Amino acid sequence: MDDLGRAMAGAHGPVRMLGGGNPAHIPEMQAIWRDRMAAILADPPLFDQMMTNYDPPIGNAKFIAALAGLLRSEFGWNVGPENIAITAGGQTAFFFLFNLLAGEFRGGGRKTILLPLVPEYIGYMNQGLTPGFLRTVEPLVEFLPRHRFKYHVDFDRLAVADDVAAICVSRPTNPSGNVLTNEEVRRLASVADSEGVPLIIDNAYGAPFPGILFRNADPIWDDNIILTLSLSKLGLPNARTGIVIARPEIIRAVASMTAIVGLANCSIGQAIVLPLVQSGEILRLAREVVRPFYERKSRLAQQWITEFFDDGIDYHVHVSEGALFLWLWFRGMKISAETLYTRLKERGVLIVPGHYFGASEDWRHGHECIRLSFAMDETSVREGIAILAEEVAKGYM
Ligand SMILES: Cc1ncc(COP(=O)(O)O)c(C=O)c1O
Repeated sequence: MDDLGRAMAGAHGPVRMLGGGNPAHIPEMQAIWRDRMAAILADPPLFDQMMTNYDPPIGNAKFIAALAGLLRSEFGWNVGPENIAITAGGQTAFFFLFNLLAGEFRGGGRKTILLPLVPEYIGYMNQGLTPGFLRTVEPLVEFLPRHRFKYHVDFDRLAVADDVAAICVSRPTNPSGNVLTNEEVRRLASVADSEGVPLIIDNAYGAPFPGILFRNADPIWDDNIILTLSLSKLGLPNARTGIVIARPEIIRAVASMTAIVGLANCSIGQAIVLPLVQSGEILRLAREVVRPFYERKSRLAQQWITEFFDDGIDYHVHVSEGALFLWLWFRGMKISAETLYTRLKERGVLIVPGHYFGASEDWRHGHECIRLSFAMDETSVREGIAILAEEVAKGYM
């Protein structure tokens, strides 16, 4: 991350920033945020409430009640305000949840978090306060026509060891854009249940919002699932608003951690989004604005890959089922993804090499993959892919 930032700051020519996870600036969503801000400014008591009072550590009561109501009416989940806590972004939620459930315990015990399908979100990798925090399982690979592939959970290798405190997946997955099928999630939930550990589902990109999902995927929650949401990919990353939906004792622990670490959360995101949650409009925006925006971007990026890549090269694109990224696999490439990253950086294209996403160092696949964001402007993505195709072709020579 540091290196990406330095490359942006020190660049001489144009930089195609295809490395970060920043959401796109969607004009309709930007207009809604500005209108909401104007409405809040025009209402002094509302403005004062948002800016001059601490919310309780658990989050804003009105926002939490509205969200619980929406989840109940939309999905029939048995969710009340006691099941929801706000955090300073999803990232903070994961720091809290991982260190709450796993790590070193009084009396010498040690617990881990199981990631049942890596490559998985880079942001999980360094969150444990003690070493050896994560256990990981590499996926089954399904090859598909037209240079495509898809990951599946390898249930045969999914051993839930005694020290596992929770199972965690992002759905859609950052970096691969994979969406675990309903069947896979139900099976993971049942494994978690039978092992007596929670299943954490990171919904930073998924349903019900922001809804960056290009295939059908049912939102799933029950008493043994900890579901996290975020306002970031809806277009409000600086509002730093994460949402945890879980059993009351987990919610109380998360709220206590907020109180200790940060006292309270920022209220601005919750205030901006509140009427959209109360009316259910947030679901329509996810479905009719956010999803088609990214789906189009994904399609374009894939078209440019077909256009610029030599068909004879053994490249594979993970099926783009959601999120903001394409995950590319250059099977048998003679240079590592790290070397490719360095060469691309010299040509003003930033991507993320694949070995950072939780697989073991000696899994060759991780060194043959890269993550590329398609959220940026079309010129940057198109030029970036054209340069990438040239450097990959050299990498096979
Ligand atoms: C899978 C996943 N989870 C969680 C986060 C954290 O996002 P935020 O802290 O902005 O809510 C991200 C951000 O990119 C992500 O990709």
